[in-house]
This record gives sequence, C-alpha cells and structure tokens, in this order.
Amino acid sequence: MIRTDNLKQPLRWGQIGGGKGSQIGYIHRDAAQRDRNFKLVAGAFDVNPERGRAFGVEELGLDVDRCYDDYQQMIEVESKREDGIQAVTIATPNSTHYAISKMALEHGMHVVCEKPLTFTAAESEELKEIALKHNRVFGVMYGYTGYPTIAQAREMVKRGDIGKVRIVHMQFAHGYHAEEVEKNDPGLAWRVTPEASGPSYVLGDIGTHCLQMGHLISGMEMDSLSCMRKSFVESRQLEDDAHVMIRYKNGAVGTLWCSAVAVGNVHDFKVEVIGEKGTIRWWDEHPNQIEYAPLGEPFRKLDRGMGYLHDAARFERIGGGHPEGLFDSWANLYRNMGHAMIAADNDAQQELASIWFPGIDDGIEGVRFIERCVESADNGSQWVNV
Ligand code: NAI
Repeated sequence: MIRTDNLKQPLRWGQIGGGKGSQIGYIHRDAAQRDRNFKLVAGAFDVNPERGRAFGVEELGLDVDRCYDDYQQMIEVESKREDGIQAVTIATPNSTHYAISKMALEHGMHVVCEKPLTFTAAESEELKEIALKHNRVFGVMYGYTGYPTIAQAREMVKRGDIGKVRIVHMQFAHGYHAEEVEKNDPGLAWRVTPEASGPSYVLGDIGTHCLQMGHLISGMEMDSLSCMRKSFVESRQLEDDAHVMIRYKNGAVGTLWCSAVAVGNVHDFKVEVIGEKGTIRWWDEHPNQIEYAPLGEPFRKLDRGMGYLHDAARFERIGGGHPEGLFDSWANLYRNMGHAMIAADNDAQQELASIWFPGIDDGIEGVRFIERCVESADNGSQWVNV
C-alpha cells in the first residue's frame, strides 16, 4: 500500500496558501519534501501578497519572481514556463478550493487539495471530471491515512480477521473551541463563518476525517444517515458539535461524533470497528499501535514495525518501538501521490490505478456527507439517503 521507493527526480511543486503562521502549511512542505519527491519552487502563500512574498523569499529561500501575488498569477505564469511547476498543493480556507483546483487542473497541473474539498458535491464531481479529462492526479489530504497501522487495520478487516463488520464507531472530539476563541484566532474565525467555511464547521473540519477513516478501514458504503448538530457557543453560525447515526448498505450500523467543545479532550480521533469475530481500535494520539480483540479474548496491542503484521503494513522509516507520527503519515501519502503523478504523466494507467492515496472520490464522499448531514439536521434529524 505504501511505496518504499522514491522518485528519480523530484516533481517541481508549488503551494497556494499555507503561509506564515498558518496551521497546515508547514506540514505540507515538510511531508512533500521529506523524501525528495517534491521540490518547492513557487508559491502564492498568503492572502496578503507582501507577507506571502517575504515569507517565500526570506524563510523558504525561493526566487522572488516565483513568489506570486495571487494564485491566478502563479498558475498563469508557471504554466507557461518550461521549468514551471508540475504539481500544486492548495492549503487555503475551504471557500477557495474549488476555483483554485479548477484553474490548476485546466492548466495541466496535478493537484493536492485540502479537505473539505468544496462547498457542494456537484463542485467536487466537476473537479473529478476535469481531472479525468486532463489526466491529472487529484489527491485530497486526509493525512491520517498514511500510517502503517491503518494499512494493518484495513488488511485485517479485508482478510476477515474480525468477521463480518457489525458496528463502526467514529469520533473526532477536541475541546479547544469550547469558548468564543475565534475573537482572537483568525484560523478559527473563518471556520465558523459560512462564506469561508461552507455549510458546516465540525462536520467538515473534523467529521470528514472520521468518515473517511471509517470507510477506509471497514470498506463499507453508507446507505442513510440521521444527524443532530448544534452550536453550543451561541454566537456561532455553524455547529461546534454534531452526532450522526449511519446505516450501511450491508446492514452494519455506525455512529460518528465530532466536537470542538469536548472539554478535556485533546485530539480524540478514534475509530473502532466491531465485527462478529473481533474488534479493532485505532486512536490518533497513539498511532503506532492498534488494539485488537479476537472473540472471547481481551484487547492486545499490535505495534508498528513488528513481524506479526500483515505485509501491507510492513513499512517503516525507523524500526518498531521508535514513534512515528503525523509527519511520517503525510510523507507516505505524498510519496504515493508523487508516484501516481509520474504514472499519469507517462500514461501508465494500470500502474496509476494500482497506487493508493486519498483522492477525489474521498473528497466527493466527504462533501456529500456534509450535505446530507446538514439536510438531516436542519429537518429535525430525519433519516436521509446518502
Ligand atoms: P489558516 O487560516 O491557518 O491558514 C490559511 C492560509 O491560507 C493563510 O496563510 C492565508 O494567508 C492563506 N490564504 C487564504 N486565502 C488565500 C488565497 N486566496 N490565496 C493564497 N493564500 C491564501 O488555515 P488552515 O488551518 O491552515 O487550513 C487551511 C485548509 O487546510 C482548510 O481547508 C482546512 O480545512 C484544511 N486543514 C486540513 C487539515 C488536515 O488534517 N488535512 C488540518 C488543518 C486544516
């Protein structure tokens, strides 16, 4: 699942958003360049062009003529250069993802975009069509999915180690926004503003991570859902807490809780998949282990890097026992995406199809989930088909 070989030459790569002080810019730069599969050569890093240029030149060492005022200028100019960027990462607030992705794809660039991908599922579907038409790779940064322990969990479910799945419990709960902290935090202020964030806050910001992870490990598709959402901080226009009940197509059921007001919780992103013969648990705060209980036996910890893991999980940057973390997970995903981009450039469609990474379909599913949750919650939590 995770490639162990690097590209012969790094892809020329640009970044839009992710400027100084942003939450997610640094990890994109670190993960993409960790294994020399991508080389940052251009950027439109900031909504404020002067600040973005100063950051690009002084702190990232880029040429001043490749630090652009805005994404339109960057994509126009770079697409005309012989040594222009081949791929671009979009790490801006949600409202901009659709327009930037569309323009980049139409100018022949591979795209890695942040989630939630767009405001509407129709927009995400359109991006898929454009990517297919131009034979471009579209990665969506569900960054927790690159852990070897996730590959192990997927493989165990696939092989039937826990039998037929009955229940999936997903949660992503933290307590950082239990008060009106957006007054002094621009990174949160846009998240609770519909014009910038879209129709939801926690459902899109963290609920989509749960959904995608639950889907990835269990391999199941949703049939219908019922959602309750609420803003406990009354000044917020968008929910800071949501609970979703899910029915899957194969008869299994699920629950998903996402919250930014769960006081005391730090990064409680957990997925538990319960089958007829066993249960698997994963928790983001301890990503080097998964817990596994076969029927009739207590939980045991399976550690990254150990010989008893399935082949799919036999990938590590350092031996078991040394902690790997989120940066490694992201670097694993960037490596796979880099290989996919080269395969697409070479029109090696079979190889392309064999390389796993979170992509446009995951992006579409996340946005559709948000749409359906909002529809349900705003209509008395009625059940809606997905
Ligand atoms: P942030 O508010 O901390 O940073 C946004 C950055 O984008 C800033 O540098 C800002 O100046 C820049 N920017 C805004 N509009 C721009 C434009 N039109 N052109 C160029 N730059 C622009 O936001 P944060 O938290 O870094 O989130 C960015 C995106 O990443 C969001 O979509 C968010 O949902 C996603 N995200 C994903 C995570 C993951 O685990 N995959 C984790 C955190 C955020």
